[in-house]
Amino acid sequence: MTNPASLTNVRKGLAGVVADSTAVSKVNTDTNSLLYRGYPVQELAARCSFEEVAYLLWNSELPHAAQLEELKEQERRSRPLNAQVKDTIDALPITAHPMDVCRTAVSVLGLLHELAENSSPEANLTKAIDLWAAMPAVVAYDQRRRRGQDLIEPRDDLDYSANFLWMTFGEEPVDEVVEAFNVSMILYAEHSFNASTFTARVVTSTLSDLHSAVTAAIGALKGPLHGGANEAVMHTFDEIGVRSEESMEEAAVRARAWMENALEQRKKVMGFGHRVYKHGDSRVPTMKAALDKMIAHYGRPELLGLYNGLEQAMDQAKAIKPNLDYPTGPTYHLMGFDTPTFTPIFVASRITGWTAHIAEQFAENSLIRPLSAYNGFDERTLA
Ligand code: COA
Repeated sequence: MTNPASLTNVRKGLAGVVADSTAVSKVNTDTNSLLYRGYPVQELAARCSFEEVAYLLWNSELPHAAQLEELKEQERRSRPLNAQVKDTIDALPITAHPMDVCRTAVSVLGLLHELAENSSPEANLTKAIDLWAAMPAVVAYDQRRRRGQDLIEPRDDLDYSANFLWMTFGEEPVDEVVEAFNVSMILYAEHSFNASTFTARVVTSTLSDLHSAVTAAIGALKGPLHGGANEAVMHTFDEIGVRSEESMEEAAVRARAWMENALEQRKKVMGFGHRVYKHGDSRVPTMKAALDKMIAHYGRPELLGLYNGLEQAMDQAKAIKPNLDYPTGPTYHLMGFDTPTFTPIFVASRITGWTAHIAEQFAENSLIRPLSAYNGFDERTLA
């Protein structure tokens, strides 16, 4: 019998390994589609609020009016920044990366939750909604404190996306901006067994608690090969140089030259490529349409020049397509978010998907514990 842990069986990065089944979402690379509980994500982005999509991910069905109202009420109740969490954030250095602040805040929220030690399905759903509701205050306040600004209290007359923007900027956002933000939140919400979701499932599989699983997932999402790519995209734009006085064509020429040079040096360019999609990311057309609207709204065609120039040069040289982080980075930049805040926004969205997977893992749990193929010293004795 072959040893299952032999070196020839190693699947580096678990590439191509089917680790479990899930009913939360389906990524189909042949048709370039992504379904949340059976619904195409682009249809959800066009027709639903983020609250409706969150409900769908948690409950498998879209909400009726009364169910949506109930979710919205709980979400609004959990919006204000907890005083102890605020004190914790205030004690952190202003130089701390917002993802580290976010991870720390989730950890504190976990130990303070009245249901901390309860992992029943009902308790987990309550904890998931409370955590999702609390994130805009954490993310917004952290950006504000780094700018020397005070906390802004939530507004109950605004929905999740509009309130997120309100708490960050202290101005009532215009509908077009809220719509683009809402689209990004829906597109970021769920994506099957990506690295952070799998991390959350691994932690859950030990029967640890929901906040521990989410805290670990945030650590995984921070990396530039995963969620940190939206931030890295903006660093690329900054390195090329964002010049508001420039025309779209001029910006595209400089972007193409930058990409050719980067590829010559065999650099990995963030915002391109995907482990699963090899012919384009299903979410990009919808997010690119939202970016186009923001470029028109803010009157910044040079950003489209940079976007197109990089995309065309990458396509020509390597036929590698952009992923969701590519259009999302400049969209958040246009809205006024600081670049290090981009991935924490992703956290607020992906909490819905992570917690749907945590519930699924709890419901049919099996400890996740793979084997390793040993390639160290042969057995030896102490001298
Ligand atoms: N820039 C330049 N080259 C890239 C690339 C990128 N963003 N993504 C993949 N490639 C190239 C690799 O260099 C490699 O080329 P080679 O065979 O000549 O060495 C080939 O494409 C395969 O890449 P690999 O990294 O092995 O594929 P993967 O499936 O393991 O990687 C990612 C997937 C996402 C990790 C990878 O595409 C990447 O690092 N992208 C940038 C980070 C990013 O945007 N992440 C967000 C994902 S949603």
